[in-house]
Parts: sequence; structure tokens; C-alpha cells
Amino acid sequence: MFNSKFGSVPKFYVRAPGRVNIIGEHIDYCGYSVLPMAVEQDMLIAVEPVKTHVLQLANTNPLYPDFSTSANNIQIDKTKPLWHNYFLCGFKGIQEHFGLSDLTGMNCLVDGNIPPSSGLSSSSALVCCAGLVTLTVLGMNLSKVELAEICAKSEHYIGTEGGGMDQSISFLAEEGTAKLIEFSPLRATDVKLPSGAVFVIANSCVEMNKAATSHFNIRVMECRLAAKLLAKHKCLPWEEVLRLEEVQAKLGVSLQEMLLITEDTLHSEPYSPKEICRCLGISLQELKTQILSPNTQDVLTFKLYQRAKHVYSEAARVLQFKKICEEAPDNTVQLLGELMNQSHVSCRDMYECSCPELDQLVDICRKFGAQGSRLTGAGWGGCTVSIVPADKLSSFLANVHEAYYQRSNRSLVPEKQSLFATKPGGGALVFLEA
Ligand code: GLA
Repeated sequence: MFNSKFGSVPKFYVRAPGRVNIIGEHIDYCGYSVLPMAVEQDMLIAVEPVKTHVLQLANTNPLYPDFSTSANNIQIDKTKPLWHNYFLCGFKGIQEHFGLSDLTGMNCLVDGNIPPSSGLSSSSALVCCAGLVTLTVLGMNLSKVELAEICAKSEHYIGTEGGGMDQSISFLAEEGTAKLIEFSPLRATDVKLPSGAVFVIANSCVEMNKAATSHFNIRVMECRLAAKLLAKHKCLPWEEVLRLEEVQAKLGVSLQEMLLITEDTLHSEPYSPKEICRCLGISLQELKTQILSPNTQDVLTFKLYQRAKHVYSEAARVLQFKKICEEAPDNTVQLLGELMNQSHVSCRDMYECSCPELDQLVDICRKFGAQGSRLTGAGWGGCTVSIVPADKLSSFLANVHEAYYQRSNRSLVPEKQSLFATKPGGGALVFLEA
């Protein structure tokens, strides 16, 4: 296909994987550690550098139209999350990092098998893949950590204010191990998953593109506002506080104590923008322009108590999960399952990022043998991840298939994309021609 599109052959190939987040949802952008693993599914780009300053992109999937632009004038439209914009995020991130204005062009053919809008991070995989493509064309070097940080930042050009989990695991993943990803500074530590269990991904078949709605950014802003109100209440320099983790670090207290402080300080009724302004002593204009993102400026209510409770409790569950994996008691799988179930309940009730189909799918998975099951990724659709005892895997797959997919039109979705067991895969790679 590369040959018929561009009339030449690729010089090299780059792959970057998607991921499944095992536990630690919506806490990376609050500064807290998360526990994902890379999946085998990935983005793969065939590349030929060219002398002209033109970037030409094509996709093996006919749903994604060809795109071409001058390499020196990258415009990323935040209003529509078109596929090529994710490529441009990675491209621009590297270009800006090296302060380059005169970039060489390239021909790229993109292929991918991560189900889109499913919470498995197909978008970040494309940003990371494009970042590594650009770096390779330039003949420059960066560490995986630097690459992950650049790509996490440059994905914000699409308009969503994600954390760094997806890009970090795409670069730092290693086959056979999940990773605890910590931020500021970015670090990845191996977490050995129990051998007696399998992690199974099930797609609710409800598509959710986090850049197409404001759900995601509203949560980021609610966490930011909660952090500011907590900081103000504790007489900390709230103006410079952006993340819930900073409040904990500045107070030097435990996550359990942060939960109590949240209960004492914030109220469970939603906050109006006016009340927030009153608490912080700022004007509505200042709130809109200095704190909120462009697509959340007209939001009328913010739930601060619920979001902060989710974040602090979820951050604690991640640490417990890692500890149980390390200590590996006899009932490891059961304990990990319980944490995953608690995570789902918190995502559903406190963070409100689930949907009826995800809740139904989680129930079905638990009914047919999962020790724990939860939504994974941003939520509001997409996939669940379940921990299933290895000896129950085949009956689990058959029963969930029957109960969730066969009884509805959902069985139309190719099976491999809907329900599959997964193992920790490796990170992004460049394949050069021998
Ligand atoms: C998206 C974001 C991540 C993370 C998850 C939710 O995937 O890109 O940074 O916030 O949602 O855990």
C-alpha cells in the first residue's frame, strides 16, 4: 500500500503500543501514580523521509482520509479530533523540543489495530508513534522518559488535558511486566502480576472519544478547583497549586488524612462558579481565563467533594495493589480483585465516568468468574478490565460472550477487538531495514 500511495518504499517502521490501565483511573493528571501495562495492539507507521518540506500522511483504514501539509506550518484544529491531528501533535512536540523551524518532509503510512475510542489509548499511541518517527527522521536522540514527557505535553494540542500515563507506558513498557508509573519526576517500576490470573479486556462497544466532548476536561478542572479550595482552606499558596497531590505533599500528610480533610473542608452539593469565586476571592473573569480550560468556561456546576474523594482513595488503592503484588499472599487474586471492584464503584459513583453499558458489563464479568472488574481508561464508554483466575478463563470468555455480545447486535463487532485476554507487552520501537 505504501508503494501504491507514494510510489516508493519505506525506509523504516515505528510501532507504539496502546495500554490497559489496571488500576489508578483519572489520577495521573492529579499527580498520582498509576498502574498500566502495554497491550500487544499498536500503531505502526511506515516512513520515508523526503527532501521536500511536505508531510504526507495516509492510513491503511479507508475511514481515515489522506492528509498533507507543509512541515513548517503545523496547524492543529482543536475543534475536531481528526485522526491526522494526533500525528501532528507528536510531530510538533519533537519539532518544538529541538526548536526547529525548517523540518524535512516525510511520507507516512499509518496502520493500527487498537480499537479506537475504546479506552485503550489508540490516540496516544499515534502521538507517541509520530513523535518517534519524527525523532528518527531527524537522526536525533532522546531518552524514553524525555519522549514520553514531550508527547504527553504535545497531546494537549488536541484540546484534552490528559495526564502522562498513556504516553509513559507506550514508551516505557516492557514485555512481561506491568508498571507503576510515577510523575514529577517520571519513573516506571516493574510490577509483577500474579501468575495464577489473567487480565481480560472487554469492550462495551460504546465509543467515547475524549476530545469530542468536554466530560474529560470538566473532571480535570473539578480536580484543579478542589485542589485550590483545599489549599486555600489550609492557608497554602493556592494560586500556584494545580493538582490534588500538591496539596498532600505541601501538608505532608497521608492519603487517609487527605480523605478526612476533604470531608471536613468541601461540601457534597455541587459548587457554582460564583461560590468558587467567593471561596478563592477572585472574579468570574479570572476563574474563566486563568483557571478553566476553553471548553469548560461555561460549566454551571462543579462537584469538588466527590472528585477529590475519588482521587485520594484511588491513589491509595494503586499503592495497595502494588504492595499485594509484591507480597503475593495466598489470596492475592482475590485481594487485587476487590481493589479493582472498589475502583469501579468509585469511578461510577464519585467520579461519574461510567455508563450503563460499562456497569452491566462489569456485573456480567463478575458473575462469570472475574474476581474483580472495572472500567479502564477515561470511561463513559470503552472497555473494562477484569482479573480472572487462569483456570476459569475459557468458561469466562464463553459466558461473557454469550451474555453481553451474543444477546445483542454487539456480536457484530469483530470478536478479537471485543473480548480478549492480554499480557503485558513491550514499548515503542523503531525497525530499521537491515
Ligand atoms: C485518558 C488520559 C490519561 C488518564 C486516563 C484516565 O486516557 O489520556 O492521561 O487520565 O484517561 O485515567
